Amino acid sequence: MSELSRVQRSPQAHAAGPPPPHIMPLPRISLQAFCETPEFLSSVQAAAADRRMSKVHVKAQMGGAPAAVEAYAEASTPNVIVIESLGGREALLDNLDRLAGVCDPDTKVVVVGHVNDVLLYRELTRRGVSEYLIAPVEHLPFIQSISELYHGEKAEPLGRVVAVYGAKGGCGASTLAHNLGWTLSRHLELATVIVDLDLHYGTAGLNFDHDPLQGVVDAVAAPERLDATLMERIMSTLADNLSLLAAPAMLDIPIELESANFDHLIDMLRSSVPYVILDLPHNWSAPVRRCLTAADEILLVAEPDLANLRNAKSLYEWLKTARPNDAPPRLVINKTGLPKRPEIAPTDFAAKVGAEATVIPFDAQLFGSAANNGRMISEIQGSGKHAEICLALARALTGRTELRKSKFNLPFQLPFLRRAASRKM
Ligand SMILES: Nc1ncnc2c1ncn2[C@@H]1O[C@H](COP(=O)(O)OP(=O)(O)O)[C@@H](O)[C@H]1O
Ligand SMILES: [Mg+2]
Repeated sequence: MSELSRVQRSPQAHAAGPPPPHIMPLPRISLQAFCETPEFLSSVQAAAADRRMSKVHVKAQMGGAPAAVEAYAEASTPNVIVIESLGGREALLDNLDRLAGVCDPDTKVVVVGHVNDVLLYRELTRRGVSEYLIAPVEHLPFIQSISELYHGEKAEPLGRVVAVYGAKGGCGASTLAHNLGWTLSRHLELATVIVDLDLHYGTAGLNFDHDPLQGVVDAVAAPERLDATLMERIMSTLADNLSLLAAPAMLDIPIELESANFDHLIDMLRSSVPYVILDLPHNWSAPVRRCLTAADEILLVAEPDLANLRNAKSLYEWLKTARPNDAPPRLVINKTGLPKRPEIAPTDFAAKVGAEATVIPFDAQLFGSAANNGRMISEIQGSGKHAEICLALARALTGRTELRKSKFNLPFQLPFLRRAASRKM
């Protein structure tokens, strides 16, 4: 019997029954599963091969909760941790409490248990565990449960949008945006998209030595055409976990954009990628203002001189009115210590703006080599001072703290506490 006829005669091929559930494809996230049975390990592996999981970075291993605690004592946690537990309630809760001490604020935890235990379910929910599944868990229901974490009724938006804006042209906003995107993806292993919104003069393509597609224009020129397929087509891959929507950087772009053109793009990116960096041009157009008000976080970059100070103060005032319920932008004072240039001391600058500041010293050699070679600072410098500053900024933005080991067995934090913690610098 040929393969084809065997498939056609299979009783399941035409079996009546409920249609398979509609499962929304998963966004660009990372997932790590710690299994205790070979059956669940193969379910995770089968799920990883499914088309709906094609954007998910999946790692699956044996070892259960103890292996998870050990794995994350040093490393950052992924977007989703799945823990299978064969053991008793106490052992599982004890391991989860230990895991909470090293868990990054935006990580979701899913537990796969082998008993239908209501008390355990309550305890897990109290600790902020996102889902409790009872084994055996086949691959499709598994994909569906993970998908619902991001598309279900109670799902929070996945992505955080960080707008990087310069108080004055040339102060280093784009350089910081690109290095930050690189650091988030490379060092914190967070899938990130950089969107170069300086349509005529954008430098992201140059800074990453990448001859890009004219991505961003296609994304904003006709928002009604922008869907997941077009988005995939216009995004260039820069590295594992890092993509770019590049600007064409040509003068003859025949479009006048309105602020509403950007809304759909930002909403789509927010629902499909954990971190979105908007590299904004230094102008005060309606689209730029819309991006500033729509962002979850703003990094305001300034050089330590009077014009930058005046602009930074006005921007802080404007943003306070436009975003009354959000934290003010994070202030970055860039290019301090430029030889022979009189400058406003960073502490005075920050005090006058009314913000705490991250200070990035001027270094012509380092930034010049990076820009001319299409490389990022940490590629040129390794783990030197500037790369460390960028990493600290990335950690502050994401709430991913440096001290991974906790002395205490903290319970999982409630979502609103997690968000508050993630804002601390
Ligand atoms: N800390 C720094 N030290 C030296 N040069 C810097 C520093 N930060 C940025 N630059 C350089 O300043 C120039 C302008 O940076 P860019 O990021 O394009 O500014 P913006 O986007 O604010 O207009 C680039 O040549 C960049 O390499
Ligand atoms: Mg720029």
